[in-house]
Formats: sequence, structure tokens, C-alpha cells
Amino acid sequence: MPGEIITLQAGQCGNQVGQQFWSQLCGEHGIEKDGMPVKVEGIERNDQPGVFFRTNSSGRYTPRAILIDLEPRVINSIKAETNDGLFDPKDIYVSSEGGGAANRWAEGYVNAMRNKEEILDMINREIDSCDNFEGFQLLHSVAGGTGSGFGSFLLEELSDNYSKKLVQTYSVFGASEVVVQPYNTVLTLKRLVEHSDANIIVDNNSLTTIASKNLQVLSPSYNDTNKLISTVMSACTNTLRFPSYSYNSLTSILSTLIPTPDLHFLIPSYTPFTSDFVNAAAKEIRGSTAYDVILEVLDKKLRMCSYNEPNGVNISVFDILMGTEKSMASQSESIQKALIKARERIQFAPWSSSAIHVAVGSKSPFIAKGDTRETNDIVSGLMLANSTSILPILRQVANQYDQLMHRNAFLNNYLNSDYDTEVGDIMDEFNDSREVLENQIAEYQLSESINYLNEVDEEDEEGGKVEGADQQEADVEMNL
Ligand code: GTP
Repeated sequence: MPGEIITLQAGQCGNQVGQQFWSQLCGEHGIEKDGMPVKVEGIERNDQPGVFFRTNSSGRYTPRAILIDLEPRVINSIKAETNDGLFDPKDIYVSSEGGGAANRWAEGYVNAMRNKEEILDMINREIDSCDNFEGFQLLHSVAGGTGSGFGSFLLEELSDNYSKKLVQTYSVFGASEVVVQPYNTVLTLKRLVEHSDANIIVDNNSLTTIASKNLQVLSPSYNDTNKLISTVMSACTNTLRFPSYSYNSLTSILSTLIPTPDLHFLIPSYTPFTSDFVNAAAKEIRGSTAYDVILEVLDKKLRMCSYNEPNGVNISVFDILMGTEKSMASQSESIQKALIKARERIQFAPWSSSAIHVAVGSKSPFIAKGDTRETNDIVSGLMLANSTSILPILRQVANQYDQLMHRNAFLNNYLNSDYDTEVGDIMDEFNDSREVLENQIAEYQLSESINYLNEVDEEDEEGGKVEGADQQEADVEMNL
């Protein structure tokens, strides 16, 4: 079986995104919302729910998930929605103080530090229930206080304590609702850069625009934007949960996308939004083939981060195509044709392999059974791009941060926090984090140059945990 993945969800955003993700996964693996298996006749199981769920002797599925928040509201609503049956109560951490982190990174960070033993115990207990533990995924926002601060501490601990395991994040950037968001984001970005292996970055501005254009919703709610994120998460893990010949582990996917550990931000694009995942009203959608999907996901208006900004230079591109056996049958030739066209349309970094890698996943039999014939004929697809299209959002965060810091605006809450007494000088932390962001921006800029590989220090060349890129370079573009 592919290795197990433990999900950590922190703060309001992390838990609400998680709520959608688990609901999607339960649907795809025939699991009721309280964890019991769905009783349906005539479905042959070819899935591996064990990657994300453990089971007990009565057949109940429990997510390998740890839910963390500093206030109880969201977690209580998740418990109520799942009839208190899906999640293990031992995997839930709600701060006894109960007031949230009030959008302060330092508040979230210090709370995590004080409760480190309790959290590590939860993580270790989950690891004990795995046979072949592969890594973690953290779901969080980088803009508030808990997902960013608690999440930052978690990332430091994960990389310290489980250095051989993958750490991937789904990191949601805010849309300026929180005035101190640039501070929280810069402090968190340092941990994304230094203490994780891969980050799937989405921003709420892009998600809202995509949701309103594609889901025919005038003012999209978090529920709508979270469906987009959970669709990406589901697609990204499809080949792990419905294994075929290739890309059966997160490591194999990430090693294709991350040629050097210094460049590990990934931007998702997805098409089309059909009723199996996102849009219950999308019945009239026109047919979509693998050919259509490979070309459509290149549209910058589908990019879930830096929506519609000019296209950057690609370091690597990975497509995951999903459909029923029937809709995927004899698609090889049209996939090849689409890849040739796609390669002409996008720019690759001169030192990169310039290949678009493709994995072919499957549609869940539980979803295919309930679907109309039309949706069962549709191929959907996710593109993950490691590209300099990430630069606009990084520069925007840096500029907003500099404007606030120039006036020492809203700093008091950070200066007077317990961080200074319990951890260290918060101003040093700010300066250091800002420098890390600057270096990350410079690194992505440099990646556009033909000399990029020559400019890398010997120390950097040693590489990180995501290994095997060389082998993937030799890959043909398609890995069916
Ligand atoms: P505190 O509230 O300070 O304890 O931290 P928190 O991490 O719980 O805050 P939260 O997750 O609410 O982070 C704030 C940012 O996340 C803002 O940019 C919100 O717009 C965004 N956000 C909050 N909930 C959601 C959600 O369910 N989905 C999405 N996409 N964004 C969300």
C-alpha cells in the first residue's frame, strides 16, 4: 500500500478546508459522514482509503487527522456535522483559554510551544497506527494567528522531529481582510521556506474570482472557495488513493515537481468544475477530453494563486488527469498531441527538463455510480506548476509588510506578547523572516536564468528530502 499521510489542520481556515476535504474523501471512498462504510451493491473496491484513514475492528474509518484550534466554534461545528463519529476525540486540540489568537502570529506560536508535548503525543499516536508512514500535510491560512503562528511552530517541530518524512502544506493567503496579515504571512513564509518540502499556495482573491466565474455564485462563501481547495487536494492524492502504475506516492509526485529544495512553491489550476467535485449545477457542461484538459489548465484565469497575472517561467509542470475507464480509454494519442501543443504555449526555465509530466488517475467508483452518463464521460484534470508565477504574490506580501513596518504600524501587539519573554526578540524574528522572503524572491527570479544551476552553492546542491529528480528528468513526458 502507498505510504500513509497524516493531516494537521490548524485554525479556522485550516479546519474548514479540512472539513470539505474529509467530506470529499468520504464520498470518494464510500464512507458515511460518521465513518461507517456505505452499503452499496455491485461496487468493486480498487481504492486505498488506508492512506488517509485508519479502520477499527467494526469497520469504522477514522481520518488520520489532527484538528487544532485556539477557539472551539469551528471544531464544534465539524463534530456536529459528523455526528461526533468521524474524528477521534483524542486527535482534537482546542486551547483551554478559548479566545483564538486574535490574528496574532506570536499568540499562536507561543500557545503551540506551551502545548508542544500534548501535540507531539497526538502525532506520535497517529504515526504508531501507520505501517509505512510517508509524511504530513498541514492545512492552514498564513494570514490569521492560529494557522500561521501555531502552524509555524508545528512546521519547526515536524522538521526537527521527523526529518526524514515529507512535510507538505496547503497554505491559504488572505485577501487583505486582516490588517496585520502581512506580518503574519512574512513570519509564516519563513517556516514554509525553511521547514517544509512542498507548499501548494492558493490565495483567497483568486479563489473567489474563480468560484464566482465557474460556479455561477455571485458572492462566493468560504464553503465555495474551500470546495476548490478540496478538489485540488483530492486530485493531488488521486493516484495514491486509487493506485495505478506510477506516481503512487507523494514523494514521486513531489520529486517530479521540485528539482531543487530551494524552489518548492506550487500553484494549482483545475478544470472543469463538474458535479462530482465542485458544482452541483454543472450538469450542462460540455464534454471534456484529456486533450481539452491539458490545454485548458494552462489558462491563467484558472490559476488559484496570482489569478490572471502574466505567466511566469515554469520550472516544472505536472498534470493529473482523472476520468472513468471508459472516458480515459484510448486517450494516449490525444494526450501526446496536447502535450506537444502545450509545450509550445508555455515557457520553461532554460535549465529545466521542459517536460510536462502526466499521471493518469481514476474516478472513484462510488462517485461514478451515482453520476449521470454525461459527467461520467468527462475527463477532469489538475495542473501543479512550480513557476515564477508565484512572484507577484510574494512581492505583494513584501511590499505590504514594508509599508506597515515603515510606520511601525500595529506592532504593539507583537512587542507586548509573551513571545519576547518566552522565545526571543520578536523584532529579530521579523527582520530575519523578511530577509528569508527577500532571498526566496531572489531565488525564483534567478531560476529564470540559464546559469541558475551554476549559481547554486555547493552546500545547497546537496539537496533535501525530495530526491529522485534526476531520475524523473529522464522520464518521458508521459507516464501512463
Ligand atoms: P485566529 O482567528 O487569529 O485564531 O487565527 P486563525 O488561523 O483561526 O484565522 P483564520 O484561519 O480565520 O485566518 C484568517 C484568514 O483566513 C483570512 O484571510 C480569512 O479570509 C481566511 N479564512 C478564514 N476561514 C477561511 C476558510 O474557510 N476558507 C478560506 N479560503 N479562507 C478562510
